[in-house]
Amino acid sequence: MTSLGRLAGKVAVITGASSGADGSLMGFGGAAARLFSQEGCTVVLTDIKDAEGTQTAKQIADLGGTAIYRHLDVTSEEDWVDVLKETADTFKKIDILVNNAGSSARYTIEETTLDVWQEQMDIHAKGVFLGTKHVISYLRKNGGGSIINISSIYGMIGSPSSTAYHVAKGASRLFTKSAAIQYASENIRVNSIHPGFAFTPLTEVNYSKPDLQQWVLDRIPLGRMGSAMEIAHGILYLASDEASFVTGSELVIDGGTTAQ
Ligand SMILES: NC(=O)c1ccc[n+]([C@@H]2O[C@H](COP(=O)([O-])OP(=O)(O)OC[C@H]3O[C@@H](n4cnc5c(N)ncnc54)[C@H](O)[C@@H]3O)[C@@H](O)[C@H]2O)c1
Repeated sequence: MTSLGRLAGKVAVITGASSGADGSLMGFGGAAARLFSQEGCTVVLTDIKDAEGTQTAKQIADLGGTAIYRHLDVTSEEDWVDVLKETADTFKKIDILVNNAGSSARYTIEETTLDVWQEQMDIHAKGVFLGTKHVISYLRKNGGGSIINISSIYGMIGSPSSTAYHVAKGASRLFTKSAAIQYASENIRVNSIHPGFAFTPLTEVNYSKPDLQQWVLDRIPLGRMGSAMEIAHGILYLASDEASFVTGSELVIDGGTTAQ
């Protein structure tokens, strides 16, 4: 395995990282896990899709990386406490947390049920809060670290639907700044990434529909959707020491969508 070592010696936990198996459509978390490993990082892939996550971690390990999979429902405080403790016990430290898990809910305000509202807030807002709350003590022990929250351009702008998703991703965006300010003096950096429209397991069903695909393409100046690896490269930058002066920032990777 070629390693440029941009994350050499570091230990990362990535949520929603199941979709990264060879030959399958990758998600941002799975792509980041592969990239992190190539750069010398030990990676703990977590998700609720256990079979896929186990396969992705095994493939990364087979390529010579250090990678394991653990079940972590980001809405469960118990899961967070257990997985972070096991990671620190096994690999002696934690340097990086990528809060990537997510789900979509394309409903207007009147279509949005309380259950949908709650589910979106739980995954995207509560999940990011719980992960951050429980990883801080490990990062502090280490003299610092990097937390990367995968928000969305939908955490910055509106659209005709996805009501609860917009609100929840907006919460993750501002939570990032609150955390960045609270922990900057301890060298713990916290940043958000705002991907635009990308073709992944999460969006495949909707973006395969010709009318919706066209609607999306009409909104991307670069004229195509993004790939998981194009987002993963942004995650890698913020995780690495190359971003040592970057905290509380928003990295938009959207082919120009929000520049209009
Ligand atoms: N694809 C896009 O166009 C796009 C754009 C902007 C933001 N995002 C965000 O990027 C992130 C990654 O999405 P993706 O598009 O790579 O799709 P993906 O399907 O690869 O990633 C989402 C993962 O989150 C997992 N997940 C769902 N609920 C969970 C829970 N409660 N606990 C733990 N894991 C859970 C899913 O099983 C899935 O593996 C999400 O937060 C998504 O909202 C995606």
